[in-house]
Amino acid sequence: MGKRFNSTGVCVSQKHYMVDISNKIEQIKKLIDNEFYFTINRPRQYGKTTTLNEINNKLKELYLVINISFEGIGDIVFEDEKKFCNKFLKLIIKELSFVDKEEKERLEKLNLEINDIEELSEVITRFVEGAEKDVVLIVDEVDKSSNNQLFLSFIGMLRNKYLSREVGKDFTFKSVILAGVHDVKSLKIKIRNENEAKYNSPWNIAVDFNIDMSFSPKEIITMLNEYAIENSLLMDIDKLSEELHFFTSGYPFLVSRLCQIVDEKIYEFDKEPWTIKDIHKAVKIILEEKNTLFDSLIKNLENNKELYDYIEDIIVRGNVKSFNNDNPLIELGYLYGYFENKDGKVNISNRIFSERIYNYMISKLENDYNKTGICLGQ
Ligand SMILES: Nc1ncnc2c1ncn2[C@@H]1O[C@H](COP(=O)(O)OP(=O)(O)OP(=O)(O)O)[C@@H](O)[C@H]1O
Ligand SMILES: [Mg+2]
Repeated sequence: MGKRFNSTGVCVSQKHYMVDISNKIEQIKKLIDNEFYFTINRPRQYGKTTTLNEINNKLKELYLVINISFEGIGDIVFEDEKKFCNKFLKLIIKELSFVDKEEKERLEKLNLEINDIEELSEVITRFVEGAEKDVVLIVDEVDKSSNNQLFLSFIGMLRNKYLSREVGKDFTFKSVILAGVHDVKSLKIKIRNENEAKYNSPWNIAVDFNIDMSFSPKEIITMLNEYAIENSLLMDIDKLSEELHFFTSGYPFLVSRLCQIVDEKIYEFDKEPWTIKDIHKAVKIILEEKNTLFDSLIKNLENNKELYDYIEDIIVRGNVKSFNNDNPLIELGYLYGYFENKDGKVNISNRIFSERIYNYMISKLENDYNKTGICLGQ
């Protein structure tokens, strides 16, 4: 089976045309080699899971990598400490059954009857101490339950183990990577008593993760090259990559989706060299189609009137606003991937978002127009 462009979930190189992200993986490897703990928090469909999978592939010979996800773990598990601890170990055991059968069996033997986080901590100590290689823990979709007290106690435990390890008094994961949309570092645990005060910011041991996960025009070239070679097409890849970047600012899903539209909709039957006009046609199509990224964009705007009004002010009325990270609304828009800081001003992060939001807001204004007779722009 030939390769295709993918816009639904994780990309794997055997099946999908992919942007070569080895440069980013190399930078992330350095953080892991340095035994750092960190969070990869990036907007929806920004290539987090794909990146984690690539890290896993790159490091699996060197380290014992445990790559799990809290996706679908269920809220009930997070309501009960014992249930959570056992579920966490079960996820690890399941993962190890694909990675290293011997280590899986060793963990199963250590995992007798865990009642609380303290006992879970002991199991981790004994497992890591006896492991052949250094153990790296990756948890994807970590913010599925991050507003939960139990989750905060869990990362508090990881933090305490990290601090003890630093002074040679515990065995724990060499590196921990938590991935999700929200930043776990900024969460605050509810302080119930004096002793717990030290947990105030349970993830404050994490180093900043500043690696740009958007695709540069140069990186986009690598995916188009792969496509052109496989389909024996001669095309101006440099120009096409620049054009894709112009509309998407390198947002991974948007880049792949535009390519997929050109390949599967515009040249569905006869594969021909792409032109700049094809990219424009694909932009027109993406602006009208339903997809999960735009669904969550609209949902987030519908559910947050303040954010809606703020963006309406920028996009529809053309008002200029200063970028200030302490402003929670700007922070939220940035976290969702809607805003960027452009020369100190709030800018919509890419042309496709800008156009899609504009069309949607104008349509909503037309609802009001019908009701009140007020004209647009007044
Ligand atoms: N290396 C890559 N090359 C090409 N496209 C990519 C690459 N990485 C991600 N994408 C595009 O982004 C989409 C989302 O990727 P992925 O599922 O890894 O992101 P995510 O941040 O984990 O998403 P979510 O927030 O929904 O969990 C992919 O379906 C693909 O369209
Ligand atoms: Mg993901």
